[in-house]
Amino acid sequence: GGRTLAATPPMGFNNWNAFGCDVNEALIKETADIFVSSGLKDAGYRYVNIDDCWSMRERGADGRLVPDPVKFPNGIKGVADYVHSKGLKLGIYGDAGTKTCAGYPGSLGVEDLDAQTWADWGVDYLKYDNCHNQSDGSREDYVRRYTAMRDAIDKTGRPIVYSICEWGTSQPWLWAEGVGHLWRTTGDISDNWSSLRSIIRQNAPLAQYAGRGHWNDPDMLEIGNGEMTDTEYHTHMSMWAMMAAPLIIGTDLRAASPETMAILGDQDIIAIDQDPLGVQGSVVSDTGGLMVLDKPLANGDRAIALYNSTDSPATVTVAASATGLKPARAYRLKNVWTGDTLQVRSTISAGVPAHGTVVYRVRPVDDPRTVPPAVAVGA
Ligand code: DGJ
Repeated sequence: GGRTLAATPPMGFNNWNAFGCDVNEALIKETADIFVSSGLKDAGYRYVNIDDCWSMRERGADGRLVPDPVKFPNGIKGVADYVHSKGLKLGIYGDAGTKTCAGYPGSLGVEDLDAQTWADWGVDYLKYDNCHNQSDGSREDYVRRYTAMRDAIDKTGRPIVYSICEWGTSQPWLWAEGVGHLWRTTGDISDNWSSLRSIIRQNAPLAQYAGRGHWNDPDMLEIGNGEMTDTEYHTHMSMWAMMAAPLIIGTDLRAASPETMAILGDQDIIAIDQDPLGVQGSVVSDTGGLMVLDKPLANGDRAIALYNSTDSPATVTVAASATGLKPARAYRLKNVWTGDTLQVRSTISAGVPAHGTVVYRVRPVDDPRTVPPAVAVGA
């Protein structure tokens, strides 16, 4: 099976946040094209994912799911072949009940057939929802239904990333490791500040449950959808990277602004998300709406985020000794978004705008001879 998949958090696109049910072959193909032409593929984005509403309302005479021929004239196989020809991967959506949330056929009781159908089409990623689940709501029941699809995927022999939706379940972080590669930890995100702030607050305390191949999923990105400020979208990307969250783009890339592309494609912030150590940043302090997160990185650096969820500018401060940084003569800080570097003795601090986040990549400086004056040296 695919237990070694998603060693780092999945990166890709899903149509739901920007398009809802309005998905079709042209959108998926054009998104794949833009992944290649814009550099997003080179930046690590791989999965182009189809959400709910891709199929016919009824199964075929053979019991199999049938792609809507108006939305997908070449079927899911056709679009998968195209996406694969670009060196990318294709994702689909299903449901662990009798119907999807939008009322299309679900996979309850036909898990093996549907997993094999998706594998036959060349699907690489399954987002598996939990609407119309006929359940008594017990953990035993939803774990059984989610495990049935995991086993069905494993039987196909195809490596398929398996994404668990939390609807109708509770605390998936307590049971979903080993079932899926990622699990939603919250209700649906929406493109506004109060949604973003609330989701960060729910997902940030769950660091201990994430690791290579098993990730907390605070839902897909809203960056670029227009209802948040540039500062808030930078916080969105910063905190998803700090929380080792899946980076699933949820905007119309055909109409994305240069600012949107710059946020989504930023190599330094993506490197924090995708760091091979695979540790979700943990909360060091959280007082009065000011939160500090600390994420260890494979090369010995740490990413430290200073997040201001309040409605006023604030100075956010943390002692190096309160983080996982080892004692050192000084610390070299690189501001991930600006590229500015500075050196400090013992305190990591920044003025952070309302709803903003400063992310530093921090390295201990052990040799006192290498310590320059503690002033900003970057642009
Ligand atoms: C609920 C999920 O949380 C959403 O992300 C989306 O997949 C919809 N279902 C589709 O119906």
